[in-house]
Amino acid sequence: MEKVYGVMGNPISHSMSPFMHNDLFDYYKLKARYHAFHVKNGDVGTAIKGMKALGILGMNVTIPHKLAVMEYLDEIEEVAVNIGAVNTIVNDNGKLVGYNTDGYGYIRALNELISTEELQNANVLLIGAGGAARAIYISLSALGVKNIDIVNRTRENAEAIIKDCRYVVNSSHLSIPEAEEKMDRYNVVINTTSVGMHPHTEEIPLSVKKITPETIVSDVIYNPFQTRFLQESSQLGAIIQNGIGMFVYQGALAFEKWTGIFPDTKRMEKLVAHILG
Ligand code: ATR
Repeated sequence: MEKVYGVMGNPISHSMSPFMHNDLFDYYKLKARYHAFHVKNGDVGTAIKGMKALGILGMNVTIPHKLAVMEYLDEIEEVAVNIGAVNTIVNDNGKLVGYNTDGYGYIRALNELISTEELQNANVLLIGAGGAARAIYISLSALGVKNIDIVNRTRENAEAIIKDCRYVVNSSHLSIPEAEEKMDRYNVVINTTSVGMHPHTEEIPLSVKKITPETIVSDVIYNPFQTRFLQESSQLGAIIQNGIGMFVYQGALAFEKWTGIFPDTKRMEKLVAHILG
């Protein structure tokens, strides 16, 4: 019998995940399909119960349901509990287990440029303090990265992430002018805000004038492929990476949890870049 997987969100029609996972199921000759499910905000519990009843074997969860699904799961991995969001559910013989592959997916993408050992001793600056920042901050901390500062326009949001984190890490909250001034201290700078995303492609979250060559500068945005933040950093000699990697690796880690196969991420990146045109 064909196995069924999916993604639930609201809205969901623009999700690239069905293309990505169905291509992998075909490529690895697995009898399985991945569907997009539009689930309204009040229907999350019913949808999760339905997943169990129908024997759907795995589900990705996207905006705005990543927190709401948690109360309906049987078990949740520690990092996902600390992040406060689940983006991947595994149906293990009727037991629903929740994971968060967003933060680890981001790190696996970053590992194309810097090893985990190097990251553990790097000075990291996160820009923004929303859901993406929280997933990346907690996952980096859980992996033993020792120095992570956060710059955000609203101080309380950055402070809340630093306070909530259960793992040991040295952190300061910086104002935007402070971060601009201290930019040359960081080995890795990550934009997690939506600033610069299409159609606001002229916007930049902060000035990168003081960025030094060889700094790794990364953006969770992939539309456009190169935000102004990445372009200006690259002009100053930084090594840049856009958000396609994070999207691909969060999907790859989910696929691995469901099938035991860690898929060909280069193939996935090509497909996603092709869909984005
Ligand atoms: P996500 O969950 O996708 O990470 P989010 O929760 O909307 O998105 O978080 C966006 C982050 O980007 C927030 O930290 C937000 O700053 P505030 O905490 O001050 O709200 C930041 N952000 C969004 N738009 C911004 C802008 N125009 N300038 C500066 N920061 C911005």
